[in-house]
Amino acid sequence: MIKLIDDRDLARSLRSDVRAGLTASPKQLPPKWFYDARGSELFEEITRLPEYYPTRTERAILTLRAPEIARITDAKTLVELGSGSSEKTRLLLDAMVGRGTLGAFVPLDVSEAALEAAVETLGHAYPGLSVSGVVGDFGRHLQHLPDGDNRVVAFLGGTIGNLEPAERAAFLSGLRAVLRDGEWLLLGADLVKDPGVLVPAYDDAAGVTADFNRNVLRVINRELDADFDESAFEHVAVWADGPEWIEMRLRSRVAQTVRVSALDMTVDFTDGEEMLTEVSAKFRREGLTAELSEAGFELRHWWTDPQSWFGVALARAAHR
Ligand code: SAH
Ligand code: TRP
Repeated sequence: MIKLIDDRDLARSLRSDVRAGLTASPKQLPPKWFYDARGSELFEEITRLPEYYPTRTERAILTLRAPEIARITDAKTLVELGSGSSEKTRLLLDAMVGRGTLGAFVPLDVSEAALEAAVETLGHAYPGLSVSGVVGDFGRHLQHLPDGDNRVVAFLGGTIGNLEPAERAAFLSGLRAVLRDGEWLLLGADLVKDPGVLVPAYDDAAGVTADFNRNVLRVINRELDADFDESAFEHVAVWADGPEWIEMRLRSRVAQTVRVSALDMTVDFTDGEEMLTEVSAKFRREGLTAELSEAGFELRHWWTDPQSWFGVALARAAHR
């Protein structure tokens, strides 16, 4: 396993993110801090919830299209960003290994625990394949993407929507810059739909998403010696019409003061104050095509499910 982030680095960026986020107005925390070992497990639990349609919808699309994707790309190396359990990726691996072109699979994730488990499982499942994990941040480490020819970079699960528009543009151009002409991006994007379907996917009846959202408080308590009382924060998920994204927030149930010892800082929350923990943008085909094109990718294929709930784009790094 290659580690582009060591524990000191991680601690340093958590401190600066938490300091900046808790002194901002409104307060906010960056989403990558949800994913410690427990956060990654909670996310896996979310993917199995009846309300959370993205995972199973994307899986259905990939089940149908993986052979086509393997044929079109002739991938030699499959890189996966924000890979988590890489569970759906097995559909791609089966098709690509079956075609006999694929030599290496390189999953990259900030969550070392999730990555370790995935690499272990996949290494056994695909004995002829080189499987090597990279602990890294897709916002900072794209220039360390492994070399190889004919690479396909998969970015699944709608995680692209967790980046704000400016970050998204920087991410896509940054990715294009490290690819050669003709290499591929396979992008899974959740699509705009009835808020009556969207909101429950981020606010499930069993409360798993609420628990996941609050996990960021547990991470801060443990890593920065803080005293957040997680029961004093309520999970909120709202659909924002303008930007067309779901906002995940934590709402303080009372007026309270939290101490973050490692930052030598106290933070006041008013009764009902909301802190933004995540956005999950939803896309339309035209908008996404334009964003890809702006970054130097040419959309070659676009697949959806019968309800058009989720989109999978196959885009080619364009000649410039
Ligand atoms: N691709 C999987 C997991 C999606 S959840 C799926 O489709 O089900 C988002 C994943 O991205 C998590 O595994 C999380 O640890 C990872 N992640 C979040 N922010 C990241 C970042 N900045 N860099 C690398 N990985 C990140
Ligand atoms: N990429 C996932 C999504 O936007 C992540 C996610 C699912 C998530 N449920 C969440 C993030 C709840 C924060 C809170 O669909």
